[in-house]
Amino acid sequence: QPLPPLLKMHILVTGAAGFIGSHTVLELLNAGYTVLCIDNFANAISVTDEHGNAISLKRVAEITGKPVPFENVDVCDEAALEKVFSSNKFDGVIHLAALKAVGESVAKPLQYYSNNLVASLNLIQMCLKYNVKNFVFSSSATVYGPPAELPITEKSPTGQGITNPYGQTKYMMEQILIDVGKANPEWNVILLRYFNPVGAHKSGLIGEDPKGIPNNLMPYVSQVAIGKLPVLTIYGDQFDTVDGTGVRDYIHVVDLAKGHVKAFDRIKAVGSVGTEIYNLGTGVGYSVRQMVDALKKVSGRDIPVKIGVPRPGDVASVYCDPSLAHEKLGWRAENGLEEMCADLWNWQTKNPQGFSN
Ligand code: WQD
Repeated sequence: QPLPPLLKMHILVTGAAGFIGSHTVLELLNAGYTVLCIDNFANAISVTDEHGNAISLKRVAEITGKPVPFENVDVCDEAALEKVFSSNKFDGVIHLAALKAVGESVAKPLQYYSNNLVASLNLIQMCLKYNVKNFVFSSSATVYGPPAELPITEKSPTGQGITNPYGQTKYMMEQILIDVGKANPEWNVILLRYFNPVGAHKSGLIGEDPKGIPNNLMPYVSQVAIGKLPVLTIYGDQFDTVDGTGVRDYIHVVDLAKGHVKAFDRIKAVGSVGTEIYNLGTGVGYSVRQMVDALKKVSGRDIPVKIGVPRPGDVASVYCDPSLAHEKLGWRAENGLEEMCADLWNWQTKNPQGFSN
């Protein structure tokens, strides 16, 4: 339905300098929102210039031609967060800041629980204090645990069998936000459950720049393709899937970013939505081998693989039914596997060393 006249909304984006953050800031700006970006660079290395500015966000400014105000703030630092809220008037928050390495969270549970939960509780406190009532949260398919059914819908059970502290923090944050939403009926809370984000903005100026050895599949595959890593280890090829390798619902990061804009568009259009939950995926699952072959095709490079043992907790297939987001947000993923791989490869070849080129 037609949107009301474009009322300007000023959004605080936490974790803004990261892979999802930088793409989300770009789409917010393109949609006429204004932003304040904060990040503490915990999850990335050498991504600031000599003035301490986030290179990813400088590039967003270059691409959009719009200002991208940024402050180096740790959401766990209450005093710093208070300063941000007392010197800005926000209409909403998109909370992306979190530690997100599954394996690392198993080794360092306390770091994950304290960082991810304390940051979020600080942020919610500030929103209550400064009357910021629109909260969009970066959640994850990991809250479903091993899927009880496929495709996964927003009604599928959550919280069972989550095998890592990272996933637990996402699940706990959902519960906290649902309860805060119940206690504050004037709040709008939208939980966005990401499936597997891949790809990069078409310009090739921003993209995923994992610190160290990539944990996730596609940054690893593209580093093998470009020769930065020698071989991809496929974690198991005996799963009950099309070719024995794990199947996931990969979604182009630009589509994912646009989902955040649609969430705020809905809040603007409807006014009061209460608490809503959406899967952001394509609804199509691809196996590891299919992803490797797709990048081979796009890059023309060989991608050596070897078979390793399954990671503890890895399941055969995860993919969603994204129809609720289409119905209520008017959103759907527009990029397919070809675009995901072409845009990933474009970023990789233009930035062989990521932002620290
Ligand atoms: C994808 C597939 C692996 C690497 C996790 C989090 C989720 C989200 C994305 C956090 C699986 C296989 C991977 C490799 C491989 N958020 N694989 N070799 O596990 O689906 O989801 O990351 O960032 O919350 O749970 O993503 O990219 O790790 O794995 O064979 O070197 O690729 O077994 O089948 P996952 P992934």
